[in-house]
Amino acid sequence: MSFDRNIKIAPSILAADFANFGAEIVAVQEQGADWIHVDVMDGHFVPNITFGPETCKAIRPHIKGVMDVHLMISPVDQYIDAFAKSGADIITAHYEAGPHIHRTLQAIRNTGAKAGIALNPGTPAESIEYLLDMIDLICVMTVNPGFGGQKFIHGQIDKVRKLRAMVGDRPIHIEIDGGVTPETAPLVTEAGADVLVAGSAVFGGGSVANPAPYGDNIRAIRSAARG
Ligand code: DX5
Ligand code: ZN
Repeated sequence: MSFDRNIKIAPSILAADFANFGAEIVAVQEQGADWIHVDVMDGHFVPNITFGPETCKAIRPHIKGVMDVHLMISPVDQYIDAFAKSGADIITAHYEAGPHIHRTLQAIRNTGAKAGIALNPGTPAESIEYLLDMIDLICVMTVNPGFGGQKFIHGQIDKVRKLRAMVGDRPIHIEIDGGVTPETAPLVTEAGADVLVAGSAVFGGGSVANPAPYGDNIRAIRSAARG
């Protein structure tokens, strides 16, 4: 995986047809998606359940580029190998998921995957100060994790700006997750984000049978993000 700060749109399959992930992924990629964002929820760390490593493994062959796996699970450490073996390029764990995030990030990098850290809305930017050399991606949650289709929390924009200053020249992506739309995208890219996760704003209005709206939605977010 090479590094750049170009804007990347990462559709979240949380908003796709769960009975048809393979075709949904193919469709959204044909319509211009850069990365595929995969939300894993355990019904414990967050109040919703999605799927696990077997589903990740099954969808991997359909993903042409980066498979970006967001683990909203606790505990997390004992599942890292399984998600790495499923073919994840990036494995993101939550800062809040356990007492030993430093160890978790080490374990992720040891598998050969890139290590991401996700920050809930209440977690300050400074939390990651002593972790910067261990991370490849910071996922700023702009909603409370657990569900798609929630309203963007504007107070997080200031956190993005702080994180961008902390990152400096390091090859660390800043990803935004939750409530990304053509209206909110420019606010976070201006503050320094380069990866935009979007569920409802990409999959809304389209389907595998009618994928053109996916392309319209992705282009709308991308062109707004470029300001
Ligand atoms: C929320 C997930 C998000 C979610 C975003 O817990 O991590 O990735 O799919 O959905 P939207 O874009 O609809 O806010
Ligand atoms: Zn996510």
